[in-house]
Amino acid sequence: MRLLLPAVLLSAVHRAVAETQQQPTVTVLNGTLGGASCASTDVNYFLSIPYANAPVDSLRFAPPQPYNQKYNGALDATTAAPACPPFNSVFNESTAESEDCLFIDVWAPANATASSSLPVRVWVFGGENEAGGISNGLYDGCFASTNTIQVSINYRALPNLTTASQGNAPYIQAINCSSTTTPNSRLTCLCSTPVDTLVTAFLANTPQAFGFVIDGTTIPAAPTHPLVPSIIGSTVNEGTFFVIDDLEDAASLNASTYVSWLEGLGIFSAAEVAAINETYPVTLYADSFNPVFASMAAVITYGNFRCPARQVAASAAAAGVPVWTYSYGHTPSCAWYKDMAADATPGASWPAYNASASMGVNVLNSTQWDVGTVDYSICAFWDNIIGSVVGGPVPAINGTNSTGNGSSSPATSSGSAMNASQDWSFYMLFLAAVTVLGLGW
Ligand SMILES: *[C@@H]1O[C@H](CO)[C@@H](O)[C@H](O)[C@H]1NC(C)=O
Ligand SMILES: *[C@@H]1O[C@H](CO)[C@@H](O)[C@H](O)[C@H]1NC(C)=O
Ligand SMILES: *[C@@H]1O[C@H](CO)[C@@H](O)[C@H](O)[C@H]1NC(C)=O
Ligand SMILES: *[C@@H]1O[C@H](CO)[C@@H](O)[C@H](O)[C@H]1NC(C)=O
Ligand SMILES: *[C@@H]1O[C@H](CO)[C@@H](O)[C@H](O)[C@H]1NC(C)=O
Ligand SMILES: *[C@@H]1O[C@H](CO)[C@@H](O)[C@H](O)[C@H]1NC(C)=O
Ligand SMILES: *[C@@H]1O[C@H](CO)[C@@H](O)[C@H](O)[C@H]1NC(C)=O
Ligand SMILES: *[C@@H]1O[C@H](CO)[C@@H](O)[C@H](O)[C@H]1NC(C)=O
Ligand SMILES: *[C@@H]1O[C@H](CO)[C@@H](O)[C@H](O)[C@H]1NC(C)=O
Ligand SMILES: *[C@@H]1O[C@H](CO)[C@@H](O)[C@H](O)[C@H]1NC(C)=O
Ligand SMILES: *[C@@H]1O[C@H](CO)[C@@H](O)[C@H](O)[C@H]1NC(C)=O
Ligand SMILES: *[C@@H]1O[C@H](CO)[C@@H](O)[C@H](O)[C@H]1NC(C)=O
Repeated sequence: MRLLLPAVLLSAVHRAVAETQQQPTVTVLNGTLGGASCASTDVNYFLSIPYANAPVDSLRFAPPQPYNQKYNGALDATTAAPACPPFNSVFNESTAESEDCLFIDVWAPANATASSSLPVRVWVFGGENEAGGISNGLYDGCFASTNTIQVSINYRALPNLTTASQGNAPYIQAINCSSTTTPNSRLTCLCSTPVDTLVTAFLANTPQAFGFVIDGTTIPAAPTHPLVPSIIGSTVNEGTFFVIDDLEDAASLNASTYVSWLEGLGIFSAAEVAAINETYPVTLYADSFNPVFASMAAVITYGNFRCPARQVAASAAAAGVPVWTYSYGHTPSCAWYKDMAADATPGASWPAYNASASMGVNVLNSTQWDVGTVDYSICAFWDNIIGSVVGGPVPAINGTNSTGNGSSSPATSSGSAMNASQDWSFYMLFLAAVTVLGLGW
């Protein structure tokens, strides 16, 4: 993703004046931003700063165009930005929505000056590339920005529908732009269709995630092969979120529904279902409040998050890119991320990941984090399953194979059929689709 972060703005934030009773202001090329101070930390914030012209009408599918206006007087930078229109309900924000949504939020310590040289952390929210927004209360930077500058970016979830070749044909047809023959007339049709119609048509016609489209422009390559020092890992119960709906009817979950859930994902062969059922039997979670739910969650946690994370970490390590891994059982202190933003390492106490030792940090709970082995021992199992599903070998993870560097060909559709020559980066794309299909989004 190419971001048009106005560098001038970031440096201007350093000039923010710390005056507790006064509104913090920052002057940038386009005018003056009037921010506000956090209630319980010495941090100032500046919300809803436009970084691009409103992506409406003919700009709906265009890359962000640099903001070219002056503020009319001081810009009120105290109000939460609207979220871009959501294409699913799971990450649908409770804040206002608008297509005019290309804003950033910035937090900075109240005492920051031009010479503070603070690290800048950029937060790109998640949401299946279908929804989400910077104004989610969880992304408030008041606590995380006492010693760094934090920037969070709104971006459109809208896929690039301007080419029919990206798996979008049924969708384009549903909004009746299919009869338009030339790309230009199709684009005109797509740009003039009300966004609500696009959303409704998506919900009714496209049972797959947008995923990310490697279009060679906005996303030049699969982001599964880190080229810069990186921290990557997963959360111990990540999968629960994706099967949480099943809890509504928890009493009806049993060993048979578990198997039919695996089958219903529509991805695994009978042999693979049997193998997963055997590796993650309901009896393994007998102590859980709902063993079937726990098994389903574990399949997602390991198959969709932990083992793909290990693939990416191992790929980076094999290519000589420094990488650190973690397992989170609790929201961690942010100190590591401050260090990471400052000098591209999370500090000496966090050993770098390599495939032979698999060291990292296990955050157990609010008081205890342990440096030790991050447990990826089940991942050979998932590598085999996924290798079999995608019809090609997943590279061995033992530090000897550096082919994970990724010369992947551009994805032509998100989450659909793959061929054997495509590399393991589809591991992630593929399993993202598993999750989404499983939910019937
Ligand atoms: C969408 O695709 C069209 C045609 O390939 C391209 O011209 C345009 O730049 C793309 N938009 C974005 C945001 O990448
Ligand atoms: C607004 O700021 C941007 C940089 O952030 C600059 O490129 C642009 O020229 C400015 N526009 C005006 C009208 O000042
Ligand atoms: C998102 O939430 C709003 C408000 O609750 C609702 O009107 C809208 O239909 C939802 N959109 C989706 C895609 O679920
Ligand atoms: C800002 O305040 C923090 C404590 O809140 C302090 O550690 C830091 O040195 C101060 N920075 C400057 C530039 O005064
Ligand atoms: C597309 O055209 C059909 C047939 O005219 C119509 O029933 C349908 O509502 C149209 N869809 C949209 C999204 O306008
Ligand atoms: C499992 O649950 C399903 C759906 O609730 C039910 O139809 C089935 O009889 C149950 N099977 C067993 C073995 O309890
Ligand atoms: C799934 O595993 C259970 C034991 O946990 C076994 O009884 C059942 O036959 C298995 N089902 C399939 C389809 O493999
Ligand atoms: C792998 O990590 C372990 C533990 O930090 C370390 O002792 C070992 O030297 C590392 N191996 C390589 C090849 O870097
Ligand atoms: C954190 O985990 C450790 C080890 O399991 C345990 O001894 C400790 O009581 C836990 N603390 C909290 C606050 O849960
Ligand atoms: C590394 O992986 C590639 C692609 O899977 C394979 O062709 C090659 O033989 C492997 N090399 C080693 C040393 O395992
Ligand atoms: C790496 O893994 C491959 C495939 O599992 C195996 O053939 C090879 O012997 C392993 N190499 C080392 C050094 O462990
Ligand atoms: C990794 O990829 C980069 C960019 O495509 C390329 O320049 C480099 O040679 C590759 N390294 C290896 C070890 O294949």
